[in-house]
Amino acid sequence: MGVFVSTDDPGPAGHEQVVFCQDRQSGLKAIIGIYSTALGPALGGTRFYPYASEEAALADVLDLSRGMAYKNALAGLDLGGGKAVIWGDPDQVKSEALLRAYGRFVQSLAGRYYTACDVGTYVADMDVIARETRYVTGRSVEHGGAGDSSVLTAWGVFQGMRAAAEHVWGSPSLRGRRVGVAGLGKVGRHLTGHLVDDGAEVVATDVDPRALEWARTNHPGVALVADTAALVATDIDVYAPCALGGALNDDTVPALRARVVAGAANNQLAHPGIEKLLADRGILYAPDYVVNAGGVIQVADEIEGFNFDRAKLRATRIFDTTRQILRLADDEGVPPAVAADRLAERRMADVGRLRTIHLG
Ligand SMILES: NC(=O)c1ccc[n+]([C@@H]2O[C@H](COP(=O)([O-])OP(=O)(O)OC[C@H]3O[C@@H](n4cnc5c(N)ncnc54)[C@H](O)[C@@H]3O)[C@@H](O)[C@H]2O)c1
Repeated sequence: MGVFVSTDDPGPAGHEQVVFCQDRQSGLKAIIGIYSTALGPALGGTRFYPYASEEAALADVLDLSRGMAYKNALAGLDLGGGKAVIWGDPDQVKSEALLRAYGRFVQSLAGRYYTACDVGTYVADMDVIARETRYVTGRSVEHGGAGDSSVLTAWGVFQGMRAAAEHVWGSPSLRGRRVGVAGLGKVGRHLTGHLVDDGAEVVATDVDPRALEWARTNHPGVALVADTAALVATDIDVYAPCALGGALNDDTVPALRARVVAGAANNQLAHPGIEKLLADRGILYAPDYVVNAGGVIQVADEIEGFNFDRAKLRATRIFDTTRQILRLADDEGVPPAVAADRLAERRMADVGRLRTIHLG
């Protein structure tokens, strides 16, 4: 696994900085990856996970930090892309000392990297980390934080889905459309509410019986199916993966009956080439990192002092961004996932370049 990219590599520039952090007494082993600060300080969460090896942890942080640069660029934020991983089982090793040791390493980067929550870290952890660093967001409401980010994530997914509907059917309204929601967790529940309000017919599934119970109680009109395989084979117009990554794979895509895919889950494309398979089947895929940016928009807003209306307005613009990407994809004859990457790279280059203008 290489971190450096040779100067004759025609592809993306590679990571700016990768920092290995260790505090043996508390057991902290962390890697902070900064992919790009072209648009501003790098922002991305801290994943606390028991990786099988140091190589696996490094590979994940490199991948995730690059992804954040693209997500933040297309969300219109003045923030670059970064991410961190803490290597270990949070249930075994997470402690005040470990989190605070980590916070000191974040502080040592002097604002080049802002951290937030991710898998294995929570708002309460951010409050502990914040005792050692100013460069942390996604904090509790009592500490000026924005609280649960799934509210604006769902709102943004709904906006992206509306733009995709407009592209395919000529109207952004989802009235009368059948939308399949896979995963009735935090985001899936809010999304279901928006869809029902818009007049869509919702078909859903979840592995957790409590989530199904929530649907029966709050939205008795939502049809429930056994599992994701049953959902993708159902006669739906839109598929919204809102559970885990890899939802679009060699099994689901050939079986999928929807014309549009737009959902909250991260890393929906199981492997490179799936975006082509979707396009070949005439399925419009609204790229995950574009439509699920409402959460990062929320934590980014917190850096300025959280204002819900301002953050919601910015998340609403996911409609315009998705529309722009889908049009660019048509114009350039590429899948939307490729068009999204191109647009993100363009913004990083065009706006990032302005920093070469000396301010005196
Ligand atoms: N919460 C956010 O702000 C946010 C932001 C960006 C992206 N995302 C992504 O969106 C997805 C959902 O996030 P969330 O916060 O709602 O998580 P969550 O844990 O609250 O919900 C996930 C739901 O999916 C269900 N699930 C798991 N495996 C399933 C399967 N095989 N079939 C059907 N259902 C299954 C779980 O039971 C749970 O109800 C995740 O991939 C997350 O990374 C979330």
